[in-house]
Amino acid sequence: MSHSQHSIYVFDAYGTLFDVHAAVRKHATAVGPDAQFLSELWRAKQLEYSWMLTLMGRYRDFWALTEEALDYALARVPSADHSLRDKLLGAYWSCDCYADVPEVFQQLKQRGARLAVLSNGSPKMLQAAIANAGIGDSLDEVISVDEIRIYKPDPRVYDLVTTRFRAFPEAISFQSSNRWDAAGASAYGFRSVWINRNGMPEEYNDIRPAAVLPNLTGLLTL
Ligand code: 2OP
Repeated sequence: MSHSQHSIYVFDAYGTLFDVHAAVRKHATAVGPDAQFLSELWRAKQLEYSWMLTLMGRYRDFWALTEEALDYALARVPSADHSLRDKLLGAYWSCDCYADVPEVFQQLKQRGARLAVLSNGSPKMLQAAIANAGIGDSLDEVISVDEIRIYKPDPRVYDLVTTRFRAFPEAISFQSSNRWDAAGASAYGFRSVWINRNGMPEEYNDIRPAAVLPNLTGLLTL
């Protein structure tokens, strides 16, 4: 597949550019033996709330859901030190991006590609994380679902990209480490690439991604 065919690359944010489990890992000793459970539950609840609200036709921004999900997770893990709450939440504002991100962004830009983020994250969260990671210069667009107050994988979210770039869905290469997000993007008509960073098993077998890569580097040779 030639690069010129897919000169618009759109990236999911959390899990794909930013490691959502880094916060708990950083404080793993203080959190204790259930640190991994806490982190997985925090993330799972944050996503569940996003899906539930959209199914109910309601909306609260992703920051509110992130806080509420952590409070729930902490309540389920009484052994964890609850005074870590603010430190854990802070990680969403100053996340390190994955090591492959800056280099891949630079190379794609050098080839003339246009780059964007499409995320559930609120505009403020995304702005802060992108600035902190120093990857803002490579990005042509940062698109938050907050514009329409609807969460992924509603097709109206992926529509934000085609509208912004005035492109057909098949001209968009969409990268997500979240398999369900890659499914939503495939169902919408994007050429989706599942970035399977954590070696997760395949799922959503009837809605396949166009490609599966262990990290973003493989995008340069697809
Ligand atoms: C994002 O939209 C799904 O968390 C993921 O950034």
